[in-house]
Amino acid sequence: MTIQEAIQEYDDFRQQTRQTDSLQAIDNPLLHRIGETADALGLECYVVGGYVRDIILQRPSKDIDVVVVSPDKTPSPGIQLAQALAKALGKGAHVSVFRNFGTAQLKWHEHEVEFVGARRESYNRDSRKPIVEDGTLDDDLHRRDFTINALAVCLNEAKFGHFIDLFDGLLDLEDGIIATPLDPDITFSDDPLRMMRCIRFATQLRFQIEEETAEALKRNAERIKIISQERIIDELNKIMMTPSPSIGFIELSRSGLLPLILPEVAALEGVESRNGKAHKDNFYHTLEVLDNVASNEASLWLRWAALLHDIGKPRSKRWDNTAGWTFHNHNYIGQKMVTPLFRRMKLPMDERMNYVEKLVGLHMRPIAIADDEVTDSAVRRLLFEAGEDIDDLMRLCEADITSKNREKKQRFLQNFQLVREKLIDLQARDNYRTWHNPITGEEIMETYALQPCREIGILKQAVKDAIWDSVIPNDHDAAFQFMLQKAKELGLEPVKACERHAST
Ligand code: CTP
Repeated sequence: MTIQEAIQEYDDFRQQTRQTDSLQAIDNPLLHRIGETADALGLECYVVGGYVRDIILQRPSKDIDVVVVSPDKTPSPGIQLAQALAKALGKGAHVSVFRNFGTAQLKWHEHEVEFVGARRESYNRDSRKPIVEDGTLDDDLHRRDFTINALAVCLNEAKFGHFIDLFDGLLDLEDGIIATPLDPDITFSDDPLRMMRCIRFATQLRFQIEEETAEALKRNAERIKIISQERIIDELNKIMMTPSPSIGFIELSRSGLLPLILPEVAALEGVESRNGKAHKDNFYHTLEVLDNVASNEASLWLRWAALLHDIGKPRSKRWDNTAGWTFHNHNYIGQKMVTPLFRRMKLPMDERMNYVEKLVGLHMRPIAIADDEVTDSAVRRLLFEAGEDIDDLMRLCEADITSKNREKKQRFLQNFQLVREKLIDLQARDNYRTWHNPITGEEIMETYALQPCREIGILKQAVKDAIWDSVIPNDHDAAFQFMLQKAKELGLEPVKACERHAST
């Protein structure tokens, strides 16, 4: 069968008709060029993996992976083909060679093509380390992760477009199934990262994980520990960036991977009840919040804030005979958990982490405001603390309202609207995002001939509160007068020069 026929079969199954230009993804000049160059060198070559899968699924396909087979077993045929192709393409083509791996990468305009010799892996009885040797195309496809990623299309001119599908990957694409070509225990044990990839593809493509494969995930979960954090986080972030990340997190939990990679999130799962009162399952609530922000095309870091917003809950959970279950200060406890989590997971420890920390710490504030009367001063304080991230904080808080009680949900959303209107109004009025106290510590010290002491802090705070609660206007003179009055109450007397200053 040709790739065009495979696409036709897929389209018939889906009862869809494709535009002819999307059929041309495989019939492109660069792929023909690769085939012609390989012909001249006496090599066989195939485009494999994600590129073929994505062409059939009609997803935008990025990097091209080419497997090269040398019938007379010349070493490193991938490198040989890449170099010859770069020569043929001339200016603008650039090759990087990775001799240790027998691979080469060619960049040409917007294209990136990876060339690799077909490989075969065999296991030495005394060692878990595989011996990688040159192999045939079949050998190479057998060692790939999933049936849908083990498809190949021949690029040599005589058989251009010939479709190779040893494990019924096309059927799995039609049925929406993730399954391994070999016994899944072998596939996952060869490279345990594939367990994360399995869940990532299931989430990205909204595919089901085949039963045997799902069972093998549970059996092999512990082996994820040998994989580097960087590779794990890469897959996790891909799950996070899908339209419904909850699919992935449910699979991570089901497979037993979640407690191993994100125990803080796994700990949210479960419901406890006492005297007939149960709290909600904070894991599923968190996933709803995450999906809510994702449906608004949130950034990766807003998604992380959503995932972590309640991680302080298990540690703050208490039972109170009158109030029932409480989670006091879970936002602050959660905020403190962000840095160690980012450090452990090798997430960036820079302003992106500060942002997540800030949102986790502040996520209860808009709710508290909206639950009560929405006053100027409360909104102003929020604006000051959230700064540039106020809009994202509001998005997180709106996403956090997952109550099934429609009236309650409506009331919160209406009050949030009020908070948002006040925010716009206040920003226009006094720009509190970059607010500075008009009274500085130096000025207080000068006025009262003081050395640094706690009274200075008390006075500054009193001025801040008075401005933010609209007791006095936000200007220096009013603030200075107010400060003099407060200082008097504390028993402070200004030195003469400053009395003059006060009267000007
Ligand atoms: N592959 C594999 N095992 C891995 C990683 C990759 O078998 N742990 C194989 C698969 O055949 C995969 C191909 O290598 O299709 C290319 O890998 P990669 O570029 O990482 O993934 P894609 O499938 O192309 O998907 P994406 O670009 O979405 O990551």
